[in-house]
Amino acid sequence: MDQDAFTAVDAYLVEALIDRDEILDQALSDARAAGLPMINVAPNQGKLLAMLAELVGARRILEIGTLAGYSAIWMARALPPDGQLVTLEYEPKHAEVARRNIERAGLAGRIEIRVGAALETLPHLRGPFDLVFIDADKPSNPDYFEWALKLSRPGGLIVVDNVVRSGGVANPKGDASARGTRRMFEIIAAEPRVTATAVQTVGSKGWDGFCLVRVVR
Ligand code: SAH
Ligand code: DHB
Ligand code: MG
Repeated sequence: MDQDAFTAVDAYLVEALIDRDEILDQALSDARAAGLPMINVAPNQGKLLAMLAELVGARRILEIGTLAGYSAIWMARALPPDGQLVTLEYEPKHAEVARRNIERAGLAGRIEIRVGAALETLPHLRGPFDLVFIDADKPSNPDYFEWALKLSRPGGLIVVDNVVRSGGVANPKGDASARGTRRMFEIIAAEPRVTATAVQTVGSKGWDGFCLVRVVR
């Protein structure tokens, strides 16, 4: 692992391809000031999520795990003006910081935060969603995937963050996060309604990866 090199390359790529954005920068500095964990997606990953939303023509997006609203702002900007993003967050303090960030981004009309444990708020949601981004507590990934599938339209996309966790996913005796993600992969592999892949990533967020799941029917 050469984290310094990964971080330097990410800094270069972000500088090369991603517009400076004071609203997103401020969202992160407010998150830091409030003592939130800085585990948001990187800017180049946020832009990937926005591009995926555009590619699937997303009008409704579901996010599980809001934190300070950073990834939600990226994705909601890719929605049409009448589009909607619903994001689920357990910690009221995170939701409060997110609410301010979303308001500042001018996206309060497009983003709805539901506060509570996602497994309690998910049953109240109505689909279908075009894109689901799963990025909350990793031990629950199997349940989140099942809900995401239930709430997705055919042709929709499910993206799962942090599926590699510094290689931890390859260890069957790994921690609860690794085991949750492995169980999710088993469910995905056995599910005839989806086609899926996963790719490893390195960057400012370390060694990790995304899983991409296309709902075919
Ligand atoms: N998607 C965000 C980062 C999310 S970090 C971004 O990239 O900007 C993960 C978030 O999931 C944290 O805010 C954490 O409080 C929340 N979380 C953890 N357990 C949860 C649960 N059971 N239900 C809903 N949210 C949960
Ligand atoms: C953690 C969670 C995330 O969603 C992430 O992108 C990085 C780290 C964590 O819980 O440590
Ligand atoms: Mg994450």
